[in-house]
Amino acid sequence: MRYKIKTLTEFIIERQAQYPHAKGALTRLLNDIATAAKIVNREINAAGLVDILGTVGRENIQGETQKKLDVFANDMFITALKGGGECCAIASEENEKVISFQNEFSELGKYVIAIDPLDGSSNIEANVSIGTIFSIYRRITEAGGGTLEDLLQPGLNLVAAGYIIYGSSTMLVYTTGKGVNGFTLDPSVGIFCLSHPEMRFPETASIYSVNEGNYIHFPQGVKNYIKYCQEEESATLRPFTSRYIGSLVADFHRNLIKGGIFLYPGTAKNPNGKLRLLYECKPIAYIAEQAGGKASDGSRRIMEIMPESLHQRSPFYTGPKWMVEKLEEFLHREG
Ligand code: AHG
Ligand code: MN
Ligand code: MN
Repeated sequence: MRYKIKTLTEFIIERQAQYPHAKGALTRLLNDIATAAKIVNREINAAGLVDILGTVGRENIQGETQKKLDVFANDMFITALKGGGECCAIASEENEKVISFQNEFSELGKYVIAIDPLDGSSNIEANVSIGTIFSIYRRITEAGGGTLEDLLQPGLNLVAAGYIIYGSSTMLVYTTGKGVNGFTLDPSVGIFCLSHPEMRFPETASIYSVNEGNYIHFPQGVKNYIKYCQEEESATLRPFTSRYIGSLVADFHRNLIKGGIFLYPGTAKNPNGKLRLLYECKPIAYIAEQAGGKASDGSRRIMEIMPESLHQRSPFYTGPKWMVEKLEEFLHREG
């Protein structure tokens, strides 16, 4: 048997070698993210031990107070990215304002990062899959620490985006605009190995994912679409199967592999829904499009929306192209 394992590091270096003028900054940045992800993964795997080894809020052996996992993940990614030196600012779902890196290095990095350090955090204690979502943009401002302006860019300006899923195995999935590739962590050696090259939504799809407990509050178009999913028609594989984890990363990842649409609609009370444009919708939209799918807020392409504030929310619909287009038809019919 002949086979060759390709590691994430090898893959990134090979990809960047295709650009003769590249100086390796993006390679280093992605490596910094992968390293932080491995450390976060280690903590997540040990989460169930917290009760017997010491609870959150108690001091650990070094005399440091133990942190909740979402705070830990946030600190870990910020530390790794700051130390790496390729990034001049970070916007995190966990921080109110942009974290700007100033005068730390003789030359500041030319990238900025938006991150949801721990996605699906309410699932941790139930041992259910959670994730991290990251987005990388080139800075717009010329000098000094990165600013809000650098972070408020449309998805079309994304240089790279990806997620880490801490599931039954841990995977890192990312795109730089040339397809989507997935890497599985071999925990025995701590290396991400290419396991899912050129990921695409499958041709056939029959899953819909939505928090149906909110049905009563959904717009009529979404209600009609859900009913359509539940109707019987063998040619379109209906009724569809309903699957909802409650971690966007895990729901999206399953839908990417098996074929399905994810919906998080707005409601009368929360017209923009729950998910955050910068940390969740735009990076997932980039991956979805690169995998042959679509992402929409119901009427606009997510990638084209110009964000106005860091923590802005947006209704979010993503999945195979034909599924999202069918949903949009239902939404438009209701005006
Ligand atoms: P986070 O843990 O980063 O706050 O994100 C939770 C999000 C997302 O992962 C998921 O799709 C959604 O919340 C689930 O919301 P509901 O519980 O309202 O269905
Ligand atoms: Mn999230
Ligand atoms: Mn989060």
